[in-house]
Amino acid sequence: MSVAVIYLKTSYLKMGKLCLPTVMGFGILFAMEKRVKAIANPFRYGQAVSGAQYYDRDAVGESLYRAIAGGASNVVLYAPRRYGKTSLVKKIISRWSEDGFTCLYFDMMKIDSAERFCEKYAAAVYAAENGAEKALRSLGALLSRMRPKFTIGDDGTPGVELDFANRKFSESDLEDVLDLPEKIAGGKRSFVVVFDEFQEIAGMSQSIPMEGVFRGCIQHHKSVRYVFLGSRTHLLKRMFSERSRPFYDSAKMLHLEKPPIDESYEFVKNRFASAGMKIGGGEVEKVLEISQNIPYYVQALSSEIFETALSCGDSEVRKEYVGLAMESLMAMKREQYETVVGSLSGAQRNVLSALAAQPTARFDAKYRRTYGIGPSSTVHGALEKLVDKGYVEKSVNEYYVGDPFFARYLTSSPYEITSGMSSKRAGK
Ligand SMILES: Nc1ncnc2c1ncn2[C@@H]1O[C@H](COP(=O)(O)OP(=O)(O)OP(=O)(O)O)[C@@H](O)[C@H]1O
Ligand SMILES: [Mg+2]
Repeated sequence: MSVAVIYLKTSYLKMGKLCLPTVMGFGILFAMEKRVKAIANPFRYGQAVSGAQYYDRDAVGESLYRAIAGGASNVVLYAPRRYGKTSLVKKIISRWSEDGFTCLYFDMMKIDSAERFCEKYAAAVYAAENGAEKALRSLGALLSRMRPKFTIGDDGTPGVELDFANRKFSESDLEDVLDLPEKIAGGKRSFVVVFDEFQEIAGMSQSIPMEGVFRGCIQHHKSVRYVFLGSRTHLLKRMFSERSRPFYDSAKMLHLEKPPIDESYEFVKNRFASAGMKIGGGEVEKVLEISQNIPYYVQALSSEIFETALSCGDSEVRKEYVGLAMESLMAMKREQYETVVGSLSGAQRNVLSALAAQPTARFDAKYRRTYGIGPSSTVHGALEKLVDKGYVEKSVNEYYVGDPFFARYLTSSPYEITSGMSSKRAGK
């Protein structure tokens, strides 16, 4: 049965994902067949995207592609969280592969020790060689001191287990593993190795100077080019720009900006259209404003709006759906945000909330008084911690809360901070 949706003046009552139109004055509820339910949501977020879910980035993608294809041995690509670094590099990896490079993408994020790194990295080299018999033999020989055991997981993923049980793991084990691509290439072909979230090596070992060992090894590699990605931009930039650090001045630095706003606009509009749903210009602009034009948040909010419209049985995005979608996203995120806020000191909470209300470059006396965040020394101590933890980003012009949804939560959440803030809140 198809349903005639009556476009009388309606209000919408949202219950979880269920939206029931109520005709004003009559309170009649329509049971609606969700014919549109079968349509797949055209937005994706939470993992790297490609194909139709991907837009723009041509300019920086081209610079990245050319830098490596043209012979640069080290390139850094940095941007705040959720700007699309991983998606971009994965797209460019396919171009390097077509050019004949053997490409290896390696995420440092969940690696908590140098030993674990070795196992995972050896497995990644093995996988980049498609688990070939010849590669297996070379890896076995090159890693013989570590008594490697090669495995293939249920999903076909090659794995390597290394055995350090009878002796202490040492720097030279790490060096052996880092040298694998160079040795396997044997001067006959070239590798591109992408280290994602590279800044994480800093915390990987108490006893081994990871940065020094990495740099010491890879600077001798003739057949391997390296791309370093990272979202904790201040840590990554420091690594490559401080004179005292091993990687000082050793890479071409590329910065991934937000996409041009008009391309984001077209993307959102077209993706809705591709699923047969109309959205007006004003609503798209609202999406871009709330999400600050950061790709992850653009897709997350668009996705939720799409679901809201579907659950209302609508093929057009109504103005109120943006607010409903935002409420629903906030409900999903609330617990996570509460945990973060609960883990901060009072001074950090105050500075974070002040920045959520008003990003700034200078915490001058007027700003500090307005938000009641205390003396300059307290503010700067708290700020440093917030930047380190990744909740606050610094652009050329100002400090700001990196997650725009978190910023919204902070400016509307009920927890209290010092008095200066509450008057600002009241006006919101
Ligand atoms: N070019 C793009 N086009 C459309 N959406 C994109 C694009 N790049 C990223 N996104 C959106 O942002 C999300 C995060 O992308 P990605 O993981 O590539 O970013 P990242 O910068 O590596 O994030 P993180 O800082 O979490 O590592 C994707 O799931 C997708 O929703
Ligand atoms: Mg990433």
